[in-house]
Amino acid sequence: MMNKKSCFLVSIFLLCILLLGFTAQNNYFNISKEDVEFKVPKTFPKPLYKFKNNKLSPEIFVLGRKLFYDPILSKDSTTSCASCHQRIAAFAHIDHALSHGINGLIGKRNVPALQNLIWKDDFMWDGGVNHIEVQPISPITNPVEMNETVANILLKLGANINYKTDFKNAYGDTLINSERILKALTQFTGLMISANSKYDKYMEGTDTFTAYEKKGLQLFRNKCANCHSEPLFTDNTFRNNGLKPDTVLQDKGRGAITGKAEDNYKFKVPSLRNIALTYPYMHDGRFRKLSDVLNFYSSSPNFDSHAAREVYDIGVLTADDQKYLIDFLQTLTDKTFIYDKRFIDPFMK
Ligand code: HEC
Ligand code: HEC
Repeated sequence: MMNKKSCFLVSIFLLCILLLGFTAQNNYFNISKEDVEFKVPKTFPKPLYKFKNNKLSPEIFVLGRKLFYDPILSKDSTTSCASCHQRIAAFAHIDHALSHGINGLIGKRNVPALQNLIWKDDFMWDGGVNHIEVQPISPITNPVEMNETVANILLKLGANINYKTDFKNAYGDTLINSERILKALTQFTGLMISANSKYDKYMEGTDTFTAYEKKGLQLFRNKCANCHSEPLFTDNTFRNNGLKPDTVLQDKGRGAITGKAEDNYKFKVPSLRNIALTYPYMHDGRFRKLSDVLNFYSSSPNFDSHAAREVYDIGVLTADDQKYLIDFLQTLTDKTFIYDKRFIDPFMK
């Protein structure tokens, strides 16, 4: 049996372990100055958004992260940005063809991955939004996504004592306005940079490819890189890749934005980085597997055929071709990005 004294000592000891564990866990979510230092990856072009009028700071980034993960931005506090943009799927939505928002309402498009956004000058599958800072207004106010108003968010955050402190830490005073919210969200999403996949290491000469992966890269450069061009794996244009329009969704893509018939059924060329994690595929999530995508490309006679402008034929992809291509596409998975501690849900603390 333990006497009173040793019992006391053991309790103190256990308490210390608990406390240590708690601070260690807290440190895990701490963001330092170095964490928000922005460096352009070696092989990447200059970014289009440079954080010039939105100076990166640990406190603003942390506020952005909290907002991204907080369902308070939705009408009934059920849906956060992260409900649809899941970290383990490179911030796409695994396994859902169409996005699921507030009240179980289904949107009309597949949730895209969030990565390398500061190299984009238009957003969404149809380019309907043209600036990273205003982009969150769209999901916040969309009735089938978060169905909230900015005015109401300001009220809710203003009534929240923790957020008052967060804004003070971030901006020096407790003023909460839409500009501050949007800039904080942009610091968080803008630093989602994926540039450390096996492919990147291969290009830098610090990793090697298998024979299959090399063949896949060759095939990719011949048949796909025209649109999915390196190193971002998109040329940032809108194209029709030959998908049959869905008669139920009737999504005209870019055409609905520009009003030009020649833009009908064109969609933004998506980046293929982390593609093995972001299934299902295409703007409407119609394909579950990469092999489905390759079968489609293999049998798709014409690209951009609706626009009748650039006609592009990939030709048949044999079973071997498909194997090589899939091996190559898997080298685009970036585990350092997916497991980057900066992007983990802070509410898990
Ligand atoms: C209900 C699901 C849902 C929620 C909630 C949601 N999104 Fe999205 N997000 C989408 C879908 C779907 C698209 C593509 C929309 C389109 O093409 O019309 C998208 C597109 C985007 C894009 C553009 C990506 C690109 O490469 O073009 C960004 C950035 C983004 N969301 C950030 C956010 C942020 C920040 C929030 C929270 C304020 C948020 N999203 C909340 C479903 C959601
Ligand atoms: C003519 C331009 C073009 C070419 C060539 C092309 N693609 Fe695409 N790709 C697109 C467009 C546009 C989309 C989005 C289409 C949509 O959702 O409506 C897309 C979508 C995809 C997707 C789904 C991405 C996602 O996030 O859902 C994959 C995977 C893909 N392409 C792989 C390839 C491969 C592999 C090749 C070569 C065999 C290839 N593509 C050739 C334009 C092209």
